[in-house]
Amino acid sequence: MNEIFQKVASEFGTPVYIYFEKILEERINKVKNVFEEINFFPTFAAKANNNPAILKILKNHGFGVDILGEGELLACKIASIEGDKIVWNGNGKTKEQKDLMKEYKVKYVNVDSKEEFENLWKNGDDFELFLRVNPDIDAKTHPYISTGLKKHKFGVDFKTAEEILKSQKISGVHIHIGSQITDVKPFKEAIEKTLKLCQKYNIEKINIGGGWGIKYKDENEINTQEYKEEIIPLLKNFKLVINELGRFIIAPAGFLLTKVILVKKTDEKFFVVTESGMNHLLRPALYNAYHKIEILNNSKGEILVDVVGPLCESGDFLAKERKIKKPEIGDLLVIKNAGAYGFSMANNYNGTIRPAEVLITKDGKTKLIRKRETFDDLFKNVIL
Ligand code: LLP
Repeated sequence: MNEIFQKVASEFGTPVYIYFEKILEERINKVKNVFEEINFFPTFAAKANNNPAILKILKNHGFGVDILGEGELLACKIASIEGDKIVWNGNGKTKEQKDLMKEYKVKYVNVDSKEEFENLWKNGDDFELFLRVNPDIDAKTHPYISTGLKKHKFGVDFKTAEEILKSQKISGVHIHIGSQITDVKPFKEAIEKTLKLCQKYNIEKINIGGGWGIKYKDENEINTQEYKEEIIPLLKNFKLVINELGRFIIAPAGFLLTKVILVKKTDEKFFVVTESGMNHLLRPALYNAYHKIEILNNSKGEILVDVVGPLCESGDFLAKERKIKKPEIGDLLVIKNAGAYGFSMANNYNGTIRPAEVLITKDGKTKLIRKRETFDDLFKNVIL
């Protein structure tokens, strides 16, 4: 792999996100294998990665796309993904967005609240509406990415769900309890709770959301065999089971490649300053998230470092107290598991530009799938 990283860096420059189609396919097959015995329609959560070239690969493997708004819909259009393969999510949909859904013939809409029903969906139109229930389950993940407790803004409680199910035309229910969940148990609890509701109201379709966790550090990735044994039997009677995984599918397929600008020593620490910080990979700054980092050089010794970005904040770091091979200016750093919520959360803080994206195809070819931004892009909408 290291040769490929070197090649991409010299061909396309850095910083650059790199995705391996081969890993992506392995992940896709893992997901399909779990659900093979039931009536299953997989979608991919575009919020994890919205590059249309990635969506196209997923489409070719039978995946639809879970989207949230105009931008992710446009990504689908570019990837030639049709409306009947799209699930529209979110707790703040507008009338204009509904018009767009109609125009694009989006098939599935997850409805978040009673108020949303009254505001937008009283006539139902041609959509298959899924009601998002909040099962009040603790997913035991980072509080910012936990969504299935009463205190969270998402979905409706079971009592409200019953009111809506009694009075509205609903195709199915939707649950999503959070992200980076590595234990099967909370998924099972949430589905069991929701099953009762489905049985009572003859609901034959269910969207079980996303949330499967991966191994970033020393946690185990979700045990898919256990999931298959524990959860699939619960889903057998549904006419349709949709899911919306993002991270599990794309995180391990993606890497951020960035260069060392400087190595700075203070009384306290060694700081490795790289081209990328919280602008290119926000997860460490936002969630104190851990990403494995490898440095591509031949140096022998190891040192303890903080890997930091070049931006004007102390929160601008990629790793803290990490042992890596002794770095030098110009060395390449590889940041792992960066395929999900990496580029899609990248930003232009401090007037910086977002990286390029490159795909390594199954036959080992390098393919630029998003050009590096330019500084002109930053100011193209400015009026003086
Ligand atoms: N469905 C819904 C309704 C969601 O809100 C999400 C993620 C997914 C599916 C996909 O979840 P996944 O399979 O990727 O866990 N930025 C955070 C993650 C936020 C997740 C938001 N919703 C991070 O970098 O960890």
